[in-house]
Amino acid sequence: MTLNVIVGGFFGDEGKGKIISYLAIRDQVTLAARGGVGPNAGHTVVINDKVLKLRQLPSATVNEKTRLLIGPGVLVNPRILLEEVEITRSANRVGVDYQAGIIESKHIEIDSQNAYLKEKIGTTKTGCGPANAERAYRTLKLARDIEELKPFLTDVPAEINEAIDRGENIILEGTQGTFLSLYHGTYPYVTSKDVTASAICSDVGVGPKKVDHVIVVFKSYVTRVGEGPLEGELPPDEIERRGWIEKGTVTGRLRRAAEFNFKLAKRAVMLNSATQIALTKLDKLFPETYRTTKFEDLPAKAKQFIEKIEETLKVPVTLIGTGPDLNDIIDLREEKL
Ligand code: GTP
Ligand code: IMP
Ligand code: MG
Repeated sequence: MTLNVIVGGFFGDEGKGKIISYLAIRDQVTLAARGGVGPNAGHTVVINDKVLKLRQLPSATVNEKTRLLIGPGVLVNPRILLEEVEITRSANRVGVDYQAGIIESKHIEIDSQNAYLKEKIGTTKTGCGPANAERAYRTLKLARDIEELKPFLTDVPAEINEAIDRGENIILEGTQGTFLSLYHGTYPYVTSKDVTASAICSDVGVGPKKVDHVIVVFKSYVTRVGEGPLEGELPPDEIERRGWIEKGTVTGRLRRAAEFNFKLAKRAVMLNSATQIALTKLDKLFPETYRTTKFEDLPAKAKQFIEKIEETLKVPVTLIGTGPDLNDIIDLREEKL
């Protein structure tokens, strides 16, 4: 059995959804629990040309046998959750912790109208910051107070820890990325919670000694949406020339971009105690690698880039994304672990 925690190493949108959905099927994961902030995150899962954008449910939803949980540390917008449950027809396997926080329309209004949040920070306007502020005031409603969520309510920490004791394969899903952490990121240009691996475990009620692997996901370049520093930021025409244009899953905003940042990556490895690295979008640096599934088939310069990452960060690159589909991946875990 293995308990894997998956987190973002830069500013979110590293492609966690793709890595998680691959692992959910490949490792026959029985239970996946989502930590992180809430519906400010958008994970993209692509399976056989079908694109699924998930803001509340774990990305492991692609495995129809996986139980899907949302931890007490996470914020839930009931409308978005119920929509995703319907789209994925997953009502019989979704569980929401009694103590998950609830986003109401008043939180979304504040997030959309408050000039500091909207303009200076550039939030996703999904109400997450104001809801977490209200949780700190201890006036926020919890999932147990919401009638429509009754069928899904469960004790998430108990469910996960029982599955650990039964020796099952489990994924804890992070959202956002290390440098959007309220504690470790580029404050004040950050999200409303810590989002490093320790926080993700806390969000779902798992203690640090239960974790087998922390997989930190890096994109082959760095992107950022919203305000805040981005070292080596490229001008928009250069981003376009390199084929690195991306739009935010939740907000539709253009993502800013820079080259892979080894200094940030090293710090992300430290903050998350990474034991594996998943590198996504290698095909956007080296187009000839598109949809490759074997390391031997990579051109020398792509291999050199991966070797440089391993030498600098001292952590094995075990998963390499070569296209958006969950099967566009090189899986080196058997060789490297
Ligand atoms: P957050 O939780 O919001 O941080 O999101 P995320 O890490 O799940 O990433 P998101 O889905 O927002 O953005 C990643 C984008 O890259 C999506 O459009 C994915 O389909 C795409 N993607 C992921 N891995 C690869 C890859 O290896 N190659 C290519 N070409 N696209 C990829
Ligand atoms: P908030 O989390 O909506 O309050 O937004 C705060 C900052 O975090 C803004 O810069 C957002 O763009 C960024 N952010 C929040 N969630 C994500 C995410 O899932 N991916 C990328 N950026 C995010
Ligand atoms: Mg995203």
